[in-house]
Amino acid sequence: MNENSLNVKSLIEFYIDAGVDETCGEVSFTVEKKNTVSNIATKQADVRPAISKLALSSAEAVKNADEICRQVTSIEELRKAVENFDGCSLKYNAKHTVMGDGNPESKIMLIGEAPGAEEDLAGKAFVGRSGQLLNKMLAAIGIDRTKCYICNILPWRPPGNRSPSDAEIAVCLPFLKKQIEIVAPDYIFMLGAVAVNSLMENAEGISKLRGKWMEYQMQNGKKAKVLASYHPAYLLRTPAQKAKAWADFLRLKKEMGENN
Ligand code: URA
Repeated sequence: MNENSLNVKSLIEFYIDAGVDETCGEVSFTVEKKNTVSNIATKQADVRPAISKLALSSAEAVKNADEICRQVTSIEELRKAVENFDGCSLKYNAKHTVMGDGNPESKIMLIGEAPGAEEDLAGKAFVGRSGQLLNKMLAAIGIDRTKCYICNILPWRPPGNRSPSDAEIAVCLPFLKKQIEIVAPDYIFMLGAVAVNSLMENAEGISKLRGKWMEYQMQNGKKAKVLASYHPAYLLRTPAQKAKAWADFLRLKKEMGENN
């Protein structure tokens, strides 16, 4: 360890003492025990591009995203294209681009809002506490999570889990729509207000929207049945609403049962 890295270590220890427990820049570190730091590493990849590139107007970034989506034909191609996409600054604070998880040939797609801290670390959607609750609710209606395709409106975690801005949603939406078109599900289950408002282009509260079947038409004309419910993170904070969410899962099971 040279003198510089010792200074970095002291600085990071100072941050930890002040209550910081994660980084969102180019330096990453791991807190092992209270007040000890290891793994001070400078991230090589995803170096933030010049401001001029990041200052693309969001209309221009949406146009670029649309153009990419016209060119890709598989989830794998889309994943690579999104990882290389420069039009959304969220990418430069995130550790991973979190695309969909599960079976891309599934008849059912679940869509949440954005990766949280654990998803960002793991590079996989819904693996934290919300994901564990979601897995249990799916299992309770006889659906194995690995048989579904699970993704988010945004592939990058907003710093500190803040709500995504309208511009961030608009830039990422073409990628989600392309995922939907490639997976071509018969059923889409939306988790929370941000997810359903973004995809279905409405502004109603989730309490009004949940539990009612809607329809989503893909760019290629195929239609999917859409049902919205509360986000699992909200259910963890507000367990009294679990009964309503459970009713939504049963609605989904009934509809799928009748049509399969
Ligand atoms: N919340 C979400 O909306 N998505 C995740 O992947 C995790 C938590």
